[in-house]
Amino acid sequence: MQNYKTIILSNQEVSPDYFRMRILAPGFGAKAKSGQFLMFRVQRSLPPLLRRPFGIFRTGHLAPDCEGMPPKEYVEILYKCVGRGTNIMCELHEGDHVELLGPLGKGFEHDPDKQDKILVGGGIGLVPLFMLASELVEEYNVRLLMGGRTRDDILAVTEFERLGVETYVSTDDGSLGEEGFVTEVLKRKLKKYPEAEVFACGPTPMLKAVNEICSQQKVALQVSLEEHMACGVGACLGCVVKGAGHTEENPSYLCTCKVGPVFQAERLDWSAIGEANDSCGGCA
Ligand SMILES: Cc1cc2nc3c(=O)[nH]c(=O)nc-3n(C[C@H](O)[C@H](O)[C@H](O)COP(=O)(O)OP(=O)(O)OC[C@H]3O[C@@H](n4cnc5c(N)ncnc54)[C@H](O)[C@@H]3O)c2cc1C
Ligand code: FES
Repeated sequence: MQNYKTIILSNQEVSPDYFRMRILAPGFGAKAKSGQFLMFRVQRSLPPLLRRPFGIFRTGHLAPDCEGMPPKEYVEILYKCVGRGTNIMCELHEGDHVELLGPLGKGFEHDPDKQDKILVGGGIGLVPLFMLASELVEEYNVRLLMGGRTRDDILAVTEFERLGVETYVSTDDGSLGEEGFVTEVLKRKLKKYPEAEVFACGPTPMLKAVNEICSQQKVALQVSLEEHMACGVGACLGCVVKGAGHTEENPSYLCTCKVGPVFQAERLDWSAIGEANDSCGGCA
């Protein structure tokens, strides 16, 4: 983990309310693993100083401005404007100063014996799946099932296709791809590839439905949770979720920012996922 005081290289709207930001971050790519995240702060913002968690979409290099200079290493995030912090972010421009902390958390692990990998993304939840797809696509059969409410929520599909990933799109209103929930596509794919392992990120109702389907079919599932986070480093306990088997007598709490954000689905108490964090008795 490193704190970067750095600048924005670009920040563009890619769909209504969705932005893609490239940030100069030397050395970040060598440390980042798929499923990890970063904490972003707008340096010029007034207190409370905003730090917001975002998945790492990808890392890369830009050609240097002049011969003999090193290439510019960047990290890219994709984000949706939903509130105070992200509304400030979407007004930022190339050259603006920002602060990053990362890479943070625990990323995805995969089982080398499972040839079929199914990635399920709901809306902005596709973000951590891109690096995962890049890591897996050379050796495994990778399929992306991407769902959104409307066509505006479907992002970066052509980039997955360029990697060589088979993609399936569904929207609730049928404005792009198949009409209906992405979980219906997942059921069909699991009939065809029952030995697959599944990786999912998206809204809580979608994750719960994916967990239901995978646990019924005894398919291995990892999920990336997007709990509210204040510090991102295990200090505030604002991001705890209940672990499987949690009871009042025998509490089990997991810090999403340290133990996650990626979890094996069976580690979680799914009846409590999506509950507001109130208090906790400790942090694993
Ligand atoms: C590990 C992790 C990775 C994330 N990756 C991405 C990403 O790649 N792209 C992206 O757009 N967003 C991502 N998020 C969510 C993002 O952090 C929030 O949207 C952002 O913090 C909202 O800040 P804000 O100040 O604009 O909103 P606020 O003003 O704080 O809140 C506005 C509204 O958004 C809701 N909200 C705030 N945080 C979250 C959250 N974590 N999950 C769901 N609803 C929330 C609030 O309840 C409120 O209704 C991620 C969250 C986590 C924990
Ligand atoms: S966000 Fe502070 S402990 Fe996880």
